[in-house]
Amino acid sequence: MNIGGNHYRTIWLDAEDPRVVKIINQLALPHRFEIVELRQFSAALGAIRDMQVRGAGLIGATAAWGMYLAVLEAGEGSFSPLEEAGQTFKAARPTASNLAWAVDRMLRVLAGPPKGRVERARREAQAISDEDAGYCRRIGLHGLRLIEQAAERRKGEPVRVLTHCNAGALAFVDYGSALSPVYAAADRGIPVHVWVDETRPRNQGASLTAWELGRYGVDYDLIADNAGGHLMQHGMVDLVITGADRVTSRGDAANKIGTYLKALAARDNGVPFYVAFPSSTFDFSMEDGLAEIPIEERDADEIRRISGKTASGSIETVRICADDTPARNWGFDVTPARYITGLITERGICEPSKQGIYSLYPECEPEPK
Ligand code: MRU
Repeated sequence: MNIGGNHYRTIWLDAEDPRVVKIINQLALPHRFEIVELRQFSAALGAIRDMQVRGAGLIGATAAWGMYLAVLEAGEGSFSPLEEAGQTFKAARPTASNLAWAVDRMLRVLAGPPKGRVERARREAQAISDEDAGYCRRIGLHGLRLIEQAAERRKGEPVRVLTHCNAGALAFVDYGSALSPVYAAADRGIPVHVWVDETRPRNQGASLTAWELGRYGVDYDLIADNAGGHLMQHGMVDLVITGADRVTSRGDAANKIGTYLKALAARDNGVPFYVAFPSSTFDFSMEDGLAEIPIEERDADEIRRISGKTASGSIETVRICADDTPARNWGFDVTPARYITGLITERGICEPSKQGIYSLYPECEPEPK
């Protein structure tokens, strides 16, 4: 991600002090660009819980670096504190599979001999980060084909992509999933315009997607969460691309709350609806997303309040309803595979079905019984 002429990842090990992991604090965006240092396992956990970092790929990478910090703290002795740290990370954000996937990958590497554990942890966390960035880049190149095809139909007019929440570079280590094809198109001079859903309650669209598209120089408009259906009815959306937090073996996809409604509107209006994600987001142990994917229910105050910058420049949080208003706050919903046109992965684009998915990931297909 290019910020002010410098390339940044969202998380990295400090080049001077290998006991320090650095992150971009997403709670400060878009008003302030701030880098935070993580020096302890508990700081990495807090960053995930408080959403200084968020997005499926990035919480996975943060948990991986958090496990590295846990190894530094525990020393090369007993394995059980590391198992405990892993369980604590997994419970922090239950919907995105990348978190548990990264913790399990770290634990597999750490389970070996105590000697050399620090170095193994560092190498594995770095590998997870590098892989995430590399996979996202490839998602962009595969998804680019869809934008190129739409560009031909648009005969030089901008291709209009609608996205929900933030599945851009900020949601991963770099590049992003849903926005990676947009960036690849922009790099090639293909005119693209993005409709950015604000994404209540935490407004990741308004505060993060709009910010990173602006930094990249991509044309966009922020829209109210409920505007997408109207735009589709009026032929103003060429394709929808969202990210995903967990995708089952048959292609049901959990993503930020509200995604399902966009998929319904897309189907009603004949607009292609794509879901972009790296393979770390697959959960091959699940088939029926609605029945099986755990949906995180978050603090209801996220619904009752809203934060932003006042005219005087200070950041304030205000209540938008009566003090005693009851509220519920589900973070994600599941879009059944039947509403999804295709899955954009690092290995290519496939149909959202077992057959389509296993054609790209044959090694994940269970042996016939
Ligand atoms: O609650 P968040 O911000 O961690 O939610 C995750 C998301 O940003 C979205 O659901 C996204 O579209 C998929 S994660 C790349």
